[in-house]
Amino acid sequence: MKKFILLIPVIICTCLQAQKFEGLALTPPMGWNSWNTFHCDISEQLVKDMVDAFIKDGYKEAGYEYINIDDCWMAMERDSLGNLVPHPEKFPNGIKAVADYAHSKGLKLGIYGCAGDRTCGGFPGNRGHEYQDALTYASWGVDYLKYDWCNTGGLNATGAYTTMRDALFAAKRPVVFSLCEWGNNQPWEWGKDVGHLWRISGDIDVCFDCEINHGTWSSWGVMRIVYMRDGIRGYSGPDHWNDFDMMEVGNGMSVNEDRSHFTLWCMFASPLIMGHDLRKASKETIDILTNKEVIAINQDSLGIQAFKYSDKDSLEIWVKPLAGGDWAVCFLNRKNRPYKFEFNWSEHHFVDSIFNMDANFTRDNYKIRDLWLKKDAGSTGKVLKAELQGHDVLLLRLSKE
Ligand code: GLA
Repeated sequence: MKKFILLIPVIICTCLQAQKFEGLALTPPMGWNSWNTFHCDISEQLVKDMVDAFIKDGYKEAGYEYINIDDCWMAMERDSLGNLVPHPEKFPNGIKAVADYAHSKGLKLGIYGCAGDRTCGGFPGNRGHEYQDALTYASWGVDYLKYDWCNTGGLNATGAYTTMRDALFAAKRPVVFSLCEWGNNQPWEWGKDVGHLWRISGDIDVCFDCEINHGTWSSWGVMRIVYMRDGIRGYSGPDHWNDFDMMEVGNGMSVNEDRSHFTLWCMFASPLIMGHDLRKASKETIDILTNKEVIAINQDSLGIQAFKYSDKDSLEIWVKPLAGGDWAVCFLNRKNRPYKFEFNWSEHHFVDSIFNMDANFTRDNYKIRDLWLKKDAGSTGKVLKAELQGHDVLLLRLSKE
């Protein structure tokens, strides 16, 4: 009894202590965001259409959950009490109406804020209003907050993001907190206690391997983001993910490039936030984004980010340890012309020295599943012979025999 009485104050203190909401992203968050396709051209109807497409085209069934509204959802100024106001023409019934709609279909709603005075699009930022805004989000039923880093002159990143974390916690509605400060202040070093995911790069663009210069900043193709940071995979894991940015699948790259882009995001255990117009998606786009066996690589419970095993000629080999001793292996043709290769498993030994896992093909035999063809493909006892189209991948799941 005495022990019990002593424990009560300890429990109360722990509960009151500011923290992130634990356990909301034990696997990488999956959803859709308005920015990559629509930029500021968003509305209540658009968001509702996305919710409907989620159900109709099988995204929800495949595991996607969040419908995220990005920048430009607000009126240009706060009201006289300092509250954020939804843009009266774009969201005439407010954000709660779209959140209610998403919730009524079993989905969740995300919104966008910014640590600075103004968002990147020039709308009111959260600086100085964090606690007030967190209460507003909670009253609307918001489940996810992407928090940007424009117009933050003089602010310390760790401090600014921690303030918003504490504000969300104080508002008591569990919210996935997505840090979007582009990797400028090494969020992987401090983000684990602050949020559930952090961007590691500037903005993605619709190209496989390019930099697009906008004067004061650049946006980046898929492979540029893949190579933007070295040595940070050890920081990523359940409830605290390296975020490779929202996807550009379905936005104009070739089908091979889209397949590779999606495969790599799955290999990296990156959040899978789609960025295309769901109403106009081709069958190929839907098939890529809803391939459950590929998604299972991303959603694997160990949450380990892949590492590059080798890189020779045109061919990169990425490997990812999975729960239960399985491995995912991705062969990527980096060049834009077909490439034929052989891979003699028995000469290879994958060693993940950060997470202490290995696959030794001399010691063990693994059966192979081709995840894009959705077919069993023999075992590692035999030499693999394959041909890849330009910018395409072969994705295999290995399971010990
Ligand atoms: C920044 C972010 C983007 C997007 C825009 C909105 O550039 O990195 O993802 O949210 O702001 O203005």
